Amino acid sequence: MEFKQRTHTCGELRESQIGEHVVLNGWVDTRRDLGGVIFIDLRDRYGITQIVFEPTYNSESHELGKALRSEFVISIEGKVRRRPEGTENPSIPTGLVDVMVDKLIILNEAITPPFQIKDGIDVNEDLKLKYRFLDLRRKEMQDNILLRHQMYRSVREYFGDNNFVEVETPVLMKSTPEGARDYLVPSRVNKGKFYALPQSPQTYKQLLMVSGFDRYFQIVKCFRDEDLRADRQPEFTQIDVEMSFVDVEEVFSIVENLMKKLFKEVKDYDLNLPIPRLTYEEAMEFYGSDKPDLRFDLKMVTLNETFKSSEFRVFKDTIENKGIITGLLAKGCGEYTRNQLDVLTDFVKKLGAGGLIWMRVKEDTLEAPIAKFLTDDEKADIINSMQAEPGDLLFILAGPKYKTLSQMGSLRLEMANRLELIKEDAAPALLWVTDFPLLEWDEETKRFYAMHHPFTSPKFEDFELLDKDPGKVKARAYDLVLNGNEIAGGSIRIHDSEVQAKMFKALGISDEEAELKFGFLMEAFKYGAPPHGGIAFGFDRLAMIFANKDSIREVIAFPKTSSGLSLMDDAPSVVSEVQLKELHIKLR
Ligand code: AMO
Repeated sequence: MEFKQRTHTCGELRESQIGEHVVLNGWVDTRRDLGGVIFIDLRDRYGITQIVFEPTYNSESHELGKALRSEFVISIEGKVRRRPEGTENPSIPTGLVDVMVDKLIILNEAITPPFQIKDGIDVNEDLKLKYRFLDLRRKEMQDNILLRHQMYRSVREYFGDNNFVEVETPVLMKSTPEGARDYLVPSRVNKGKFYALPQSPQTYKQLLMVSGFDRYFQIVKCFRDEDLRADRQPEFTQIDVEMSFVDVEEVFSIVENLMKKLFKEVKDYDLNLPIPRLTYEEAMEFYGSDKPDLRFDLKMVTLNETFKSSEFRVFKDTIENKGIITGLLAKGCGEYTRNQLDVLTDFVKKLGAGGLIWMRVKEDTLEAPIAKFLTDDEKADIINSMQAEPGDLLFILAGPKYKTLSQMGSLRLEMANRLELIKEDAAPALLWVTDFPLLEWDEETKRFYAMHHPFTSPKFEDFELLDKDPGKVKARAYDLVLNGNEIAGGSIRIHDSEVQAKMFKALGISDEEAELKFGFLMEAFKYGAPPHGGIAFGFDRLAMIFANKDSIREVIAFPKTSSGLSLMDDAPSVVSEVQLKELHIKLR
């Protein structure tokens, strides 16, 4: 259908255009018929403009206008006028004017959409995902996608300005172990062989350092077949970074200035640098998490010293077994009912705790089921170390160190929610978590796993321990945490094939297996590898936080459901026998 090019977008007209003849194109947002006069809000990405079909102004177009329904795509010509006194709409930038329609062309009709195209609708997410193309018409979704776009621009500009080279790395590759399951792609040409989709471009970016590119970045899709959550998608985007001849401080400096720029350009917020740091040990001990939310303080307190000679069985056993006794202060909760305490006890039990010890703080004493097992000194000591006051409630958990700390960390978050400790206008809380353990022991398989990935360098001072006591070795690894979300993680790498071999040994990876899986990387390191390190951001998570959303699905144009489905195009789907045969695959 023929139509005239628009002269303005639907977000553009102001008082200065009054009297002008204009052409607008867009979607019918809402339609009101008032005493024979038809008012339409015409919508496009840029905004909304009211257009008016009035029989006395132009009876022909008014007649045509009667056919208009929501989401019709139209083109109109008309005259901009000042809205009559009292009908202005100050809530939109075009609200002082409207357009009297002389000519209407219906470019496309629309069937009734399954939900209204407007903000704040209460619609089942599956329905929105099935009709994502309509969901994305809504302003709040467009804003999310535009914010994401702004982030791409700022990120590219930042790295470009700082001498980083953007390099695309393969999507069909040999699997890189990042801890999750791989998505596999069968090869038609190479019978019985598979590519893996990258869990991250980790090995490639290290190879680019060996090639001498010095500074690399990429905004890149990664794929991980893992159980999904609100902050996890099977395919997600990273800002991937690698640098040569650097130590931790230089990586931090590059990242901190990126964050400063992003906060300024996307949120108009002046971020203070440097970003505070906690070691993994501190984060666990004080906040019970390796991604602590520091928008509120509420520190946990280790009470092992207080109970070092306790006769109370639970504490005695814990201390003997080198476990931890950790306490949390619930300010002003001394009057919690039994029922409330039972709910919280169930909460920690579901996380695997044996039970929850609680104490009400009274004038000069503690009231608690376990009070009779405590000496007066111990009671005074608890009150003192936890800075408790009459009217407060105390929680104590005792057990194996990290398990117990992380249970208390969850209770800390739960109490922050209950007590509304996270204020709506709280400043963003960024922090580095450093000095992660290099290896993590897995009880089930009775072996060590790399906490970050197998290319992560141990701390210099711990090199020796790698053979003797691998569990004690700390890594030159770090995470960046924002409001309790892990938004980035990285490390200084091993660049020496001998150290790498030691690491594989600690991981129980045989020489043959190492050769098979990472032979190409080990080989590359023999040809002069610079010391290098880097980091990768979870781009979607960062966008989610910037957009004030609770799920990364809100900032991804076409996300998958929590069971990995794309409801819109029905992926994954069955494929034909012919396709399977070509791929040498037989389904059972
Ligand atoms: P890591 O595995 O920590 O590091 O990933 C980096 C960041 O990516 C985000 N992320 C995810 N976001 C959405 N959905 C997922 N399934 C998902 N998984 C991870 C997190 C995380 O902090 N190659 C290393 C980086 C390096 O060492 O340089 C890596 O991928 O925000």
